[in-house]
Parts: sequence; C-alpha cells; structure tokens
Amino acid sequence: MFTADLVIKDGVIVTDRTEFKGSIAIKDERILAIGEAEAMPPAKEVLDAAGLHVLPGAIDAHVHFREPGYTHKETWKTGTASAAMGGVTTVFEMPNTKPPTGTLEALNLKLEAAKKAHVDYGIYGLLGEENLDHLEELMDGGVAAFKCFMGNTFGNLPAPSTGAMLEGFERIAARGLRIALHAENASIMKRRQLQLQAFGRKDPLAHLAARPPVVAAEAVSRAAILAEWTGARIHILHVSSGTELGPLRDAKARGVDITAETCPHYLLLDENAYTDVASLIRVNPPVREKAHQTMLWAAVLDGTIDMIATDHAPHLAAEKFKDDIWCADCGFTGVETQMPLMLTQVAAGRMSLQHYVKMTATAPAQAFGLYPRKGILQPGADADIVVVDLKREHVIQAEQLQSIGRCTPFEDMVVRGLPIHTLVRGRFVMKDRELVEASSGHGRPVGRIQQMPPPAPKNLEHTTSAILHAGPPA
Ligand code: NCD
Ligand code: ZN
Ligand code: ZN
Repeated sequence: MFTADLVIKDGVIVTDRTEFKGSIAIKDERILAIGEAEAMPPAKEVLDAAGLHVLPGAIDAHVHFREPGYTHKETWKTGTASAAMGGVTTVFEMPNTKPPTGTLEALNLKLEAAKKAHVDYGIYGLLGEENLDHLEELMDGGVAAFKCFMGNTFGNLPAPSTGAMLEGFERIAARGLRIALHAENASIMKRRQLQLQAFGRKDPLAHLAARPPVVAAEAVSRAAILAEWTGARIHILHVSSGTELGPLRDAKARGVDITAETCPHYLLLDENAYTDVASLIRVNPPVREKAHQTMLWAAVLDGTIDMIATDHAPHLAAEKFKDDIWCADCGFTGVETQMPLMLTQVAAGRMSLQHYVKMTATAPAQAFGLYPRKGILQPGADADIVVVDLKREHVIQAEQLQSIGRCTPFEDMVVRGLPIHTLVRGRFVMKDRELVEASSGHGRPVGRIQQMPPPAPKNLEHTTSAILHAGPPA
C-alpha cells in the first residue's frame, strides 16, 4: 500500500488565507495530501501536532551569513542553524562578504560554503559600479536575485553611480531577476556624518542624526524611477521610515514591479533603544522615532510593505559595543528571533496569523519566483513547514542563539509563540526545539526551481547597448 514518509497530525493548518484543523502527509520532500487525519495514508512516522499550529516555513529575503571572509561573525553552518531554530526554511543571502559576490568566481566560493546549509537558500549577486560585465555570468551561475548598495554600510562596498545602476537595471531586466536595494543616499549621509564628527558627536544618537529619513526616501524614489524606465523588478530592503512609504506607494500606483520589506527592529524598537542598548542598536538604516514605527505598522497592515525580513547581520559583542558610535559595526543577529518576536505581536492582536504567514512566507515566495513551490501549504509544494506553539512563552537570550555574532537588542524580552519543529523539504532540521545537527548539508539552492520570466521590455531603444550598436548617424 501507498505509504507517506511523515504525517503531521491534527494541527491547525495556516496559510495566507485560511486556517483549519487538519493533517499533512509528506512524501519525497513534498506535500502529498492535506485533510482529515482519517484521510491520510499510512506513514513511516507520525508527528502529533494537537494544540499546535502548522505554518509554511518562513522565507527570509535578507540575511548576511558572512562566509567567505568574515567567518568569525557567522558561517553558513551557524547562520542556517539559527534559521532552522527560528522556523525559517529558506534564506536569501547577501553579497557583502569577502570577496563580494560580484563575479562568477566569487559566486562559486559562496556556493561551496553554502553546502553546509541546514535550510534552502538563494544567493544575491552584487550589482556594483565595477562589475557590470559580470552580471551575465552571475545570472548563468545561478544567483537568485541582485543586491545594490546605494549607500555605505558594512563591508564598505562603494555605492554605484546612477549611471551604473541604470545600465545594471537594463541588463538584469532582460532576464527578469529582482534587484534588491539598500536604499540610502550615499552623499547626503557622508556629508552629515563628517559634519557630526567634526562637531565632536560620537554618541549613539549621532548615527540616527547622520541618516535622516530623506536619505532613504530619495533613494527609494530614484530606484523606482530607474525600475519604471527599464522594466526591472526591484525590492526595497529594510524600510525604516514613514517617509519612504510615499515614494513606495507612488511607484506601486504607477505599476512599477516593486516590493518592500521591513524588519522586526523597525516595528518593535524606537529612539529609546539608543539609551537602552547604546551602540548595539547601530544598524543601517537606523531605528527611528516612534512616529515612524507607527506608520510602518500601518503599511504592514495595508499591504504597502509586502514582507518581513530580518537583515540578519551578526557581529561580535566586541565589535558592537564601542564608546565611539562611528566605530561600532552596523547590524545585529535576527534570523532566529523574527518568528517569536512577530508571533508575540500576533498574540497581542496587532496582526492576524494569516497575515503573518503572508508577510513571512507567501509574499517573499511570490516576489522571488518560488511560489507555489514554496510559501504555501498545499499538495505538490515543498514540505517546508514550521510547527509553532502559539502559547509557549520564552525569554530571548543571546547565549541560546546559534549565531556566532549573537548579541541582540531583544535580550531578555519575553515572547509568546515559539517554533517547535522545522522541516525543510520534509526533513526535520529542528525537532522539539533541538537543532538536528545532521541536517547540515540538506539545504539546496533555489535557483533551479525559480520562475522569473522576464517582464515586457521597456525603452529598449534607449539602452546603452542599443545606442552603442546604432552608432553615429550615417
Ligand atoms: C548589514 C551588515 O552588517 O552586513 N548591516 C546593517 O547595518 N544593516 C549591511 C546592510 O544590510 O546594510
Ligand atoms: Zn542594507
Ligand atoms: Zn542587510
């Protein structure tokens, strides 16, 4: 008789638009059937999920795993262990490693390091000033998307000129991959920082002062104009201010293929963090005043912001805690704490569980071409599943996280709602709150299953290559 590999029995199954009590049968890495427990085929293993909720695993579109190059902060093994413990089944990893992921050679180094992954992954290729002639080989080599640093951040990769961005957008638009932007205007914040430093400012709030919201809003609107002109798909990373929402809404209304994420720290922290955790809070873009947090929540609920990602950016405590704010590395760990932090907000009634699933699984799968293979619980989808206990209370403690650079601004926070089991393509990577060490190496690149047919080309007669081919008038 037909036998499933695993049946997850009698949980509450949640998708972005429904929830119901039921069971899930898994065979050969995929979901075979969903329905009443009695309707499930016999299985080699049964997991009792009574009293628990069964969600699509989170897809975190924004993590930095630091390997190759900065492995004292994180590695693929530790970063994806953190993901597994956090209910995250797919990650998209950023190119500001050493070397940066700007050539095929660098991509291959990263793909080699990623072989230790516990969870599935997409790799971002770099779109920079100097590597336009490498974009094609990166796409052929299997990058899942591109990342462009419009403003300075960890790794000090120079921001490309608007000219290089336009040409990069033209080339990538032809292939349809999404371009993620660190949308901050480099020149405004460079001037501000130099002025603040000349004035002797080195307190934590000087970091916020150096990067006012206009820094982000200008970059969002500039990126959207280039995307509108070229037809490129773009994604705005770490939206931190209410000011960015105007240009974001405008671009959406104009039909630009633009998605946006925010992160738990912008939704849960405000200017008090600069006193509470001092230089640990230094992150780009900065955590802002409460009024921005309020506007971000509204945008999360009304769909202006499409998804929640973490910007998991681990650094050692010694690199984070500095008397001079300008010397503290930017960013902090996050991939393991997103789910408990945001489920706590669900418990508090600030967001429905279905909306949470949409923001953390369905929307990122759709934006990056993985849907409906991932981001949904339905027959035929990959069995990327997280089983959560919505009632379980827990205290966040850096010491217990899998990350190497694990200090977190959420230290000692009491959360309600915790991932208990995580499955990637049907295999446990966390079981009963224990990491399954042997699942290191189970993770696979998602490039093979991505569906990103190119959009209709726009303004092709104006592309750099068209103009150069046309030559001078006869
Ligand atoms: C990130 C990092 O450390 O790599 N830091 C940060 O402050 N967010 C880089 C980035 O996403 O800007
Ligand atoms: Zn960034
Ligand atoms: Zn980042």
